Amino acid sequence: MIYSRITGTGSYLPERIMPNSELTTMVDTSDEWIQSRTGIKQRHIARADESTCDMGAVAATRALQSAGLEPNQLDLVLFATSTPDQIFPSTACLLQRQLEITNGCPAFDVQAVCSGFVYGLTIADKFIKSGSAKNVLLIGADCLSKIVDWTDRSTCVLFGDGAGAVVLQASTEPGVYSTVLHANGAYANMLEVPCGVSKPGEERFIKMQGSDVFKFAVAAMDELVEEVLVTSAMQKSDLDWLIPHQANQRIITATAKKLNMPMSKVIMTVEEHGNTSAASIPLAMDTGIRDGRVKPGQLLLLEAIGGGFAWGAVLVRY
Ligand code: UT7
Repeated sequence: MIYSRITGTGSYLPERIMPNSELTTMVDTSDEWIQSRTGIKQRHIARADESTCDMGAVAATRALQSAGLEPNQLDLVLFATSTPDQIFPSTACLLQRQLEITNGCPAFDVQAVCSGFVYGLTIADKFIKSGSAKNVLLIGADCLSKIVDWTDRSTCVLFGDGAGAVVLQASTEPGVYSTVLHANGAYANMLEVPCGVSKPGEERFIKMQGSDVFKFAVAAMDELVEEVLVTSAMQKSDLDWLIPHQANQRIITATAKKLNMPMSKVIMTVEEHGNTSAASIPLAMDTGIRDGRVKPGQLLLLEAIGGGFAWGAVLVRY
């Protein structure tokens, strides 16, 4: 049996921090409202000349270093993002150029918005399990500050920029046990940037029906965590850590409650960087691993939901 094992992690947050207090000078909001509704205290904002690929490259380099792998030993590069540097080539190919990966391995982007990382992990796992790849680099990175309407208080307080990355390698030891993915495009207009290339439309900003997304997210995460446990024949009590998409502390708390997990078994970083979309799970994972909370052999449940709607979960032994 071949498993995909996480053998390295890395992350990156831009230098500039925007605290809630700065937002109160821009829109009609308060630190109290933002913290009580979302748990967010601050977000990081990329420089004007700093791209999604630039952030991803730093996280990827750190993940490769921690795995002890050279860039040219990779045989697949996946880049989960909904804020690519260019329309094409893919951000994954731009990253290959930046990291000087010249061995010809396949590289492509995964667009599943906030679920991009769990979608990417699923693809990576299938490449490894099928024997098509042994060493995979998966990056989740987003530069949401460039598609936020900084005059819209209902969205601008929520998002930030960042990147996370993992190296997955083929192993006879577990590993990813199971992955569950879902999507339902009927909900497309609840969370969207309604402007593109083939369908030019409104301005290029995030639009969200916040409370409807919130209700759907809580219900979907409830069902999803049950489903991934059943698929892997695991119990709630087997879990060591919940590493969720970092969108809103209240959604995370509701999922932890469903799993009977105390918050001491949840890696929560949303207060430090807000919702960084595809970057949020690998950022939280890297934080928990580097500060020593997440230890080798522990069972991790990763889950996310975002635009699409697209949602999914992965159960993995670290
Ligand atoms: O990553 C993808 C998944 N995305 C999410 O998971 C986001 C899901 N949604 C949420 O996290 C929450 O719905 C929000 C944090 C966005 C909003 O929280 P809420 O408790 O659902 O608030 P609400 O939208 O129902 O708004 C409550 C009130 C409204 O005022 P009225 O109509 O009650 O007078 C809003 O106008 O809060 C007002 N409001 C604000 N007030 C101060 C909305 N944004 C702000 C703000 N500051 N920034």
